[in-house]
Amino acid sequence: MDGAGMRKVSSHCSISDMDDYDLSKLLDKPKLNIERQRSFDERSLSELSVGLNRGSVENFEHIYSPGARSGFDTPVSSTRNSFEPHPMVAEAWEALRRSLVYFRGQPVGTIAAYDHSSEEVLNYDQVFVRDFVPSALAFLMNGEPDIVKNFLLKTLQLQAWEKRIDRFKLGEGAMPASFKVLHDPVRKTDTIVADFGESAIGRVAPVDSGFWWIILLRAYTKSTGDMSLAESPECQKGMRLIMSLCLSEGFDTFPTLLCADGCSMIDRRMGVYGYPIEIQALFFMSLRSALALLKNEGEGKEFIERITKRLHALSFHMRSYFWLDFRQLNDIYRYKTEEYSHTAVNKFNVIPDSIPEWVFDFMPTRGGYFIGNVSPARMDFRWFALGNCVAILCSLATPEQSMAIMDLIEERWEELVGEMPLKISYPAIESHEWRIVTGCDPKNTRWSYHNGGSWPVLLWLLTAACIKTGRPQIARKAIDLAESRLLKDGWPEYYDGKLGRYTGKQARKFQTWSIAGYLVAKMMLEDPSHLGMISLEEDRLLKPLLKRSSSWTC
Ligand code: GLC
Repeated sequence: MDGAGMRKVSSHCSISDMDDYDLSKLLDKPKLNIERQRSFDERSLSELSVGLNRGSVENFEHIYSPGARSGFDTPVSSTRNSFEPHPMVAEAWEALRRSLVYFRGQPVGTIAAYDHSSEEVLNYDQVFVRDFVPSALAFLMNGEPDIVKNFLLKTLQLQAWEKRIDRFKLGEGAMPASFKVLHDPVRKTDTIVADFGESAIGRVAPVDSGFWWIILLRAYTKSTGDMSLAESPECQKGMRLIMSLCLSEGFDTFPTLLCADGCSMIDRRMGVYGYPIEIQALFFMSLRSALALLKNEGEGKEFIERITKRLHALSFHMRSYFWLDFRQLNDIYRYKTEEYSHTAVNKFNVIPDSIPEWVFDFMPTRGGYFIGNVSPARMDFRWFALGNCVAILCSLATPEQSMAIMDLIEERWEELVGEMPLKISYPAIESHEWRIVTGCDPKNTRWSYHNGGSWPVLLWLLTAACIKTGRPQIARKAIDLAESRLLKDGWPEYYDGKLGRYTGKQARKFQTWSIAGYLVAKMMLEDPSHLGMISLEEDRLLKPLLKRSSSWTC
């Protein structure tokens, strides 16, 4: 998302012409609710009147304990007291605090990169919604929720702006990819400029921003016990607007969300258009988070019903058609084509010859993953780390699938982790395919950036997935790798090469989410109860009715 010249940004508004919230009012100490309370985040589908004939499931919230612990039933690590803080931790906190961005004296976010050595700042001096997530989690885990609250409210205000690209008006619910605070020292005003895609390379709107916003709202609520923010009319409306964007009816035959290339973390052309796993997993997680946070009254009621139906369809579709393991690969390899009617096994008419060679060797006997994309006659077999880790965290993956994903990471450690956690995608595309798929993008050459580059920020997602699946030793190994280089190399944005040995060709230094991602990973491993703010347990009513592959259960 570089190259977005601020001059071209059209949506802006200064505090004087903006109907601003009084941040000081919103900075009231969070209401702490220390009573044992009914779970709000695990609202079971059975409680909802959508005609599902199941008994009610009691889900009790774990006791909220002040001090930023969030409820999760993983026992606090027995090694906790023996945990020596790594010298990098203090350095990371210092760097994270340096990246804070203030609006009218209040911290509202963190800039993407604090890189003075680089001549080209591009848009790395902005607060990106997706980049702020690990920063927010670090602050929540450290018992500093105010900045997260400020950020949620500020971005909510930006959502209300009218958004245009040329003469086309964007959907009301769209959240910005990023925003920037401009300080005018003479007039003593702060102005915000935001980018909803109208300045971004390729002019693509960030589909992930709204999802991350809802996920973060739940994390804030879960961590602080302060329900008042999520329950406020403004936040309820913000969630409904995001939901109506992604639940709107069209010509779709699939419950997955159709996307343009470059609409998420991979924000350049990389052949992920269609139904990318990153967006589907975030979509699922935000649907479940919204279900937990929306009030079951008035307009919220209708949304709860629509979300519930979509979750059922989406989990079935993803678990059935995106899942790939040895057995499933063998089935696809033997697929008949040109089948017609309801009895078709090969529903999307995938031609076995289109299966790339590498996947046959890559697929271990034990293990599996959600592939990159599924659409008519097209399966993108590439591995994408973010989508698979998020699928584990929000229980889009069944417990068996989650275990299989972790098995794959262990079995294919050299390919997926190598010397620097974690590859964003695997394998890289090269030569003719690179030309066609990326449009000859010099930033996305093989094993660089989005094309098989290694991104330290993904460490927090891997760690969370490891803790959730009871495999913390994998996270520890990954953190050890990061600790051997990250600080020394100046917290790069990404690494290049098949093993991730080289600092990325055009990687920023002091990339905030590399710093925050490391801190979140460390804090979660030290105190696994933090996982609760970013994890959702399996909902019994979303259990698969259909078992496609026996390797799920063995
Ligand atoms: C790059 C990344 C994008 C990130 C942005 C700011 O454009 O691809 O995911 O949000 O930098 O760090």
